[in-house]
Amino acid sequence: MKYDFDREIDRRGRNCLKYDFAAERGKPEGLLPLWVADMDLPAAEEIRQALHRAVEHGIYGYSEVKEPYFNAVHDWMRDCHGWEVEREWMVKTPGIVYAIAAAVRAFTREGDGVMIQNPGYYPFGQVVRDNGRVLADNTLHEENGRYTMDYEDMERQIEASNVKLFLLCSPHNPVGRVWTEEELRRLGEICLKHGVLIVSDEIHHDFVFPGHRHFVLADLDERFRETTVTCTAPSKTFNIAGLQVSNIFIPDAGLRKAFVREIDKTGYSQLNQMGLVACEAAYRYGRDWLEQLLVYLKGNLDFARDFIDREMPGVKLVEPEGTFLLWLDCRGLRISDDELDRLVVERAKLWLDGGRMFGPCGSGYQRINMACPRKTLERALRQFAEALKNEGI
Ligand SMILES: Cc1ncc(COP(=O)(O)O)c(C=O)c1O
Repeated sequence: MKYDFDREIDRRGRNCLKYDFAAERGKPEGLLPLWVADMDLPAAEEIRQALHRAVEHGIYGYSEVKEPYFNAVHDWMRDCHGWEVEREWMVKTPGIVYAIAAAVRAFTREGDGVMIQNPGYYPFGQVVRDNGRVLADNTLHEENGRYTMDYEDMERQIEASNVKLFLLCSPHNPVGRVWTEEELRRLGEICLKHGVLIVSDEIHHDFVFPGHRHFVLADLDERFRETTVTCTAPSKTFNIAGLQVSNIFIPDAGLRKAFVREIDKTGYSQLNQMGLVACEAAYRYGRDWLEQLLVYLKGNLDFARDFIDREMPGVKLVEPEGTFLLWLDCRGLRISDDELDRLVVERAKLWLDGGRMFGPCGSGYQRINMACPRKTLERALRQFAEALKNEGI
């Protein structure tokens, strides 16, 4: 089947977080939104058919899953990531941020340090603060548009802030790095040396551009496996985030028990039936759709790079190795963050994620979600470029 990613679909008026909640989120109406990380692209036909069948049945009582669900997830991890997961390792949660919050409570105490790497996906920091833990920011090092980990600072802060847990984003949102095997091994060794557990959020693992490879941290070394919680989900890959399903892998029985106990404390038990149906269908039948999507996204990336180079002097694309998020370095425009945010909203009529949301080191940046029809991306970039021209920047 050939999938059509070019079709623009109106998402307005459907309680869509991306389009329908501008006023509630302090933005004017009528902006073109490329902020939150879901796609303006329809899910694969196979997923929709599975959901149709579930809807048609008409009874939406409590659901659980058995062997076929696990097998679908297992085969995906094996075929796409070379990772053999075991059934007992898996804990299902209603989303990854929920799982990260549970992990923070399960594996640390109030006042303990939890390490993140800014610029970083903002709920990481929020979850740490909301749970009364101390945030240790091992800021990524940027040089010539490429981000790397600062291992010296990592060790120093682990000791200074009594860090017990490391929240890794792999591949990294927003800087688009797909960490190499060597980088991950070095990080893993440091955490082992200092007795730091790792939550590895691998939600973006299926979005990797040619020339790069995603490594599952827990699969690199048996010792890492015993100290790592790996978060996966079909939500980004298949654009089913609203169905709230993720699969968390915890090989160590003790850690798993503590994690499950924390979830039990919140009173949560079975997942949403539709999420389970969609997840199984996605992993069983979605490979072809994803392969076509990846080609399309690569086309969007090439288009954006070319457009920015030609039409937006002062703006540089941080070349992503993975994810569908573009991290734009706007420091060359030589305007303040407030002026930049104002220009994006009031002149370009865009709703993006301003860089400072990702930590202080995000100053001067903007994040654009490019998982949309190319026409939509082109419109957004044109609006941005026009605004710069009109303002004489
Ligand atoms: C790195 C990362 N983790 C987690 C999430 C959200 O996961 P969930 O909706 O399952 O909580 C996102 C969404 O953008 C993300 O980029």
